Amino acid sequence: MLTRTKWTMTAIQLLSIFSIVSVAVAIECDLYMAESTIPNAGLGIFSAIERNPGDNVGHGDICIPILDLNNYHKKVWNPFNDYVWAGEVMGMKLEIESADKEALCPGLDCAINCNLALINVAKANPIYDDGHLHRYLHPGAGAITPYHNGTTVVTRTIPAGGELFKFYGDAWFNTRPVFNSLPLSHDYPWAQHLLNSFFARVQHKDKAFKSSAYDELMVSIRSIWNSRTLNALPTTFDEATVAFEHDIGMVYQPNATRSLQWLEKHGKCVDHVSPGQSTIEGAGHGAFATRDLPKGTVITGSPLHHIPIKENFMPMFRAFHNQDDVDEKLKSEVAGQQVLLNYCLGHPESTLLLCPYGAGVGYINHNQTLANVKVIWAKNGQFSHDATWLKKGPDEMFTTQSARLALDYVATRDIASGEELFLDYGDAWEEAWNSHIEKWKQDSLAENYLGARNWNEVMASSPIRTFKEVWYDPYPQNVHLRCHVDIIEDEWEPSSKLDWDAGEYGFECEVTERRIEADGNQIYSVRVLTEEIDRWDTEFEGPELLDVDNVPRDAIRFFDVPFSSDLFMEGTFRHFIGLPDHLVPNEWKNLPKEAKNRQNTEL
Ligand SMILES: *[C@@H]1O[C@H](CO)[C@@H](O)[C@H](O)[C@H]1NC(C)=O
Ligand SMILES: *[C@@H]1O[C@H](CO)[C@@H](O)[C@H](O)[C@H]1NC(C)=O
Ligand SMILES: *[C@@H]1O[C@H](CO)[C@@H](O)[C@H](O)[C@H]1NC(C)=O
Repeated sequence: MLTRTKWTMTAIQLLSIFSIVSVAVAIECDLYMAESTIPNAGLGIFSAIERNPGDNVGHGDICIPILDLNNYHKKVWNPFNDYVWAGEVMGMKLEIESADKEALCPGLDCAINCNLALINVAKANPIYDDGHLHRYLHPGAGAITPYHNGTTVVTRTIPAGGELFKFYGDAWFNTRPVFNSLPLSHDYPWAQHLLNSFFARVQHKDKAFKSSAYDELMVSIRSIWNSRTLNALPTTFDEATVAFEHDIGMVYQPNATRSLQWLEKHGKCVDHVSPGQSTIEGAGHGAFATRDLPKGTVITGSPLHHIPIKENFMPMFRAFHNQDDVDEKLKSEVAGQQVLLNYCLGHPESTLLLCPYGAGVGYINHNQTLANVKVIWAKNGQFSHDATWLKKGPDEMFTTQSARLALDYVATRDIASGEELFLDYGDAWEEAWNSHIEKWKQDSLAENYLGARNWNEVMASSPIRTFKEVWYDPYPQNVHLRCHVDIIEDEWEPSSKLDWDAGEYGFECEVTERRIEADGNQIYSVRVLTEEIDRWDTEFEGPELLDVDNVPRDAIRFFDVPFSSDLFMEGTFRHFIGLPDHLVPNEWKNLPKEAKNRQNTEL
């Protein structure tokens, strides 16, 4: 195995062999969006600097929950199929009761490709942060996604100019016939193992022998078999040597790396924007310039997912367990509109909605007087922008799911590093916001509202009430308790791992007993309602009630009750961002002008 020092040396040697390091280029951007090195894969993200395991890439971005979109029987046409994460993994499980939840993380994440030989980044879960908006004080509460600052973390050294690759899961490739001979994630370690045995057997032979033996071996085994693992083996002896001395990924690294000059010329910088708390009171998060951006700078580029008929996509149903009729498991009713609407661009005379994915664009707030950024169409043929789409009606767009339109976000004046960025979302948005504020009333019941995340902070070390105490001193209706327990050797035990990742929810529970030990430690006995379990290593199936003892305080947490977060409040603000009139071709205007006002109030 390679030691760390050796790795660094060899990586540097390799970089100089393929001369992808350039000292002449002044680096004014650490991260680019540009054509992927994977043929026909569209855009990718490239690092302009070397990055090492543990480094963060980019500045964090939002994840938008898409909740109860499908009304059970009909599945809505969805352009995000290849781009979303399971909502549960991103911390969204308890927003609703049904399993219909997806997390769209429209920052860098959407543009990172997958090259199974060279996985070098992983997504870190977003942080739950409501932007200090409180439902009693702020009319904007519930109008922003609280899933924020999801980052991308380096897992394998990326050379300057290297493309970023994340793991899509083998299933992504397994289920697509065009990839049926592509090596999957476990094929590379296997191929590495084969190579290592080959080199062990020929170690005392000279290079000419090794080389011809390798070539012969490849020709003969490939004529007999076509397997994913064989396809992971390097083609030439020189590549095999690189793979043996470093690892197989290093064989593919040169082709997955672009020169800095090339990136500067053909790429778009995607690290000019970082999130922070907006300077506008009540706006939540905002976008800030990471460096001086002279007037005319393309601050970021953003491909657009298209939703041809926004009216189909935007309702948020509310599917809930039907207490009256056990046969009909879930009932559903319209509960409002998807918060996604607030992050997409539209026009009052069109059903078309365009949802951008670009680093930081989801954080750019509206302000007509402070606007310092505008949007323009990207150049034809660049960044997935196909100008023929400006001549297509929304109805013709259903046949394509990938992004075919793209916007550039351009500085309209010199912007200093650290300044907040603002767009003008248009008059329709401004009017809708003003009328929302006029209609908005402070709800006295909301004055003491605390979401589960706040409860956990405030109550971090306070004793948890037992079920008897809860009878006369109940917790608020919007939170419930969950316990982190696990099955260990067919016994339910408190979990030993208590980091409560965004994707961990434990099980619903109540406290039956509480003990305070001499050192002040709180120890609990809890009754847990398990969920259905389908695991090969246990006889438990659930759901059932179980008693577990010796549970530490940290294994018990508050979680929001489904449908109780700000996103579900009645009358929360929903309005698309206005696409400037001069960017909207007549072909897209499929709604009558007079529909404008109705549009504003209804959608
Ligand atoms: C965002 O996440 C990064 C990396 O996890 C962390 O270093 C940073 O402090 C976070 N920022 C905020 C505002 O939470
Ligand atoms: C790198 O790209 C070149 C040119 O397309 C190709 O011939 C070569 O096989 C590629 N190398 C690897 C290891 O895929
Ligand atoms: C825009 O900014 C100005 C100045 O800070 C502020 O008074 C105004 O309320 C802002 N408008 C909106 C819609 O937030």
